[in-house]
Amino acid sequence: MDGQETIKRGAWGSKTAFILAATGSAIGLGNIWRFPTMVSQNGGAVFVLVYILAVALIGFTVMLAELTIGRHTQKNPVGAIGHIKPRSPWKFIGYLGVITGVCILSYYSVVAGWTIGYIVKTATGAFSGEVTSQLTEKIYTEFTSNPLQVIFLLFLFIGMTTYIVSKGVKKGIERWTKVLMPILFLLIIFLAVRALTLPGASTGIAYYLKPDFSKLSGTVILFALGQAFFSLSLGMGTMITYGSYISKSDNLVSSAGWVTFSDTLIALLAGLIIFPTLAFSGQPGDVGGFGLVFKIFPIIFSQIPGGYIFALLFFSLLCGAALTSTISLLEVPVAYLVDEREWSRKKAALIVGFLSFVIGVPAALSFGGMKIFTRIDFFGKFDFIFGNISLAVGALLICVFVGYVWGVKNAIKEIFSGNHKFKIKPLWVFSLKFLSPLAIIFILIFIKKLVSG
Ligand code: PHE
Repeated sequence: MDGQETIKRGAWGSKTAFILAATGSAIGLGNIWRFPTMVSQNGGAVFVLVYILAVALIGFTVMLAELTIGRHTQKNPVGAIGHIKPRSPWKFIGYLGVITGVCILSYYSVVAGWTIGYIVKTATGAFSGEVTSQLTEKIYTEFTSNPLQVIFLLFLFIGMTTYIVSKGVKKGIERWTKVLMPILFLLIIFLAVRALTLPGASTGIAYYLKPDFSKLSGTVILFALGQAFFSLSLGMGTMITYGSYISKSDNLVSSAGWVTFSDTLIALLAGLIIFPTLAFSGQPGDVGGFGLVFKIFPIIFSQIPGGYIFALLFFSLLCGAALTSTISLLEVPVAYLVDEREWSRKKAALIVGFLSFVIGVPAALSFGGMKIFTRIDFFGKFDFIFGNISLAVGALLICVFVGYVWGVKNAIKEIFSGNHKFKIKPLWVFSLKFLSPLAIIFILIFIKKLVSG
């Protein structure tokens, strides 16, 4: 396992190690911060329903497709596509992924930096005493509009990510995820149980779980699909890159299934904490906004004996979960530069990390830190373009590439190298060749209308 090659590219120790790392990439702010925000802005339960369908019918399909390309070629996205279809414009998928990775990393790290700020706030007693929604609102607004503070935290977070990625994939990620994910899972279950037993919780539960079909619209479908890709780390080659480190004897289908399932479970549980707590604090489900999690979680901690400790634990775990995701975001451009351009890992990580930081600054200043960025909502626009559209376009191209260019036969041969059962093969092929690409095209065509309407 050791030797120069491994140090340069890294490799997973085992199948479990791969699943842990891929789960670490998938589970992050996308589940706990972005998912409830999207639910709140897009009609509540009906969004949840469309989201689950999008994950099961399209997300899983793309997940398996990406892992298959990755393991077959053992390369980063650009190299992988070039390996299958040399000197073709399909390489664009890889480049799009590299750019998307840098851009998502930049604004994602802004929110990831906030988690550090909230660890400090909790530790220094900002949430002791009575915690009302007015108080959490005030703390959030003051905190996120302080320009130097948010830029410093952004810098710190990207710095940590860069350090770990420069040390190589295997050592960096496995270690983290192994400890982090099980504790996060237990804590979230515990908090969900508490939230469900708060007075008034039922209004929140209804908003979250009882679909109002009159709220179903193209916009809801667009955002649900985008959220599925975002949360599962799909559409930009993350899973191609991570799949490139999986061994030939591993079962790709069950790996893809496991990652998809656990990611979705965490997101759904996060909603079960947020919406009952919102109702408890007397607010409607659709208050929305990117600050939702930061305003709502302190309220639930104030309703638990020893809440101070739980709050510290929660924000630390959220920070850690965000870190295993930013690592995977940075890993895509770094793997490209190391494999294709023969840069050293350290140089690649440092340069890309710095670039993301610079791009992240306007995003960090979009919450009152600087008027112009706040007014144009730089953060929101960036998230929409890269966190939604760009991932959807990437996922579409990956489906078409695997379904028609590389060919389903070849992909299936690769899938069979590690397992001999693939019961849902016909479904996967149908989704890969028809359902997923058509659904994405349909949604992209209507995008202009949706967004302006
Ligand atoms: N899936 C991660 C999350 O939910 C974010 C991410 C998106 C990571 C795309 C890698 C690629 O937090």
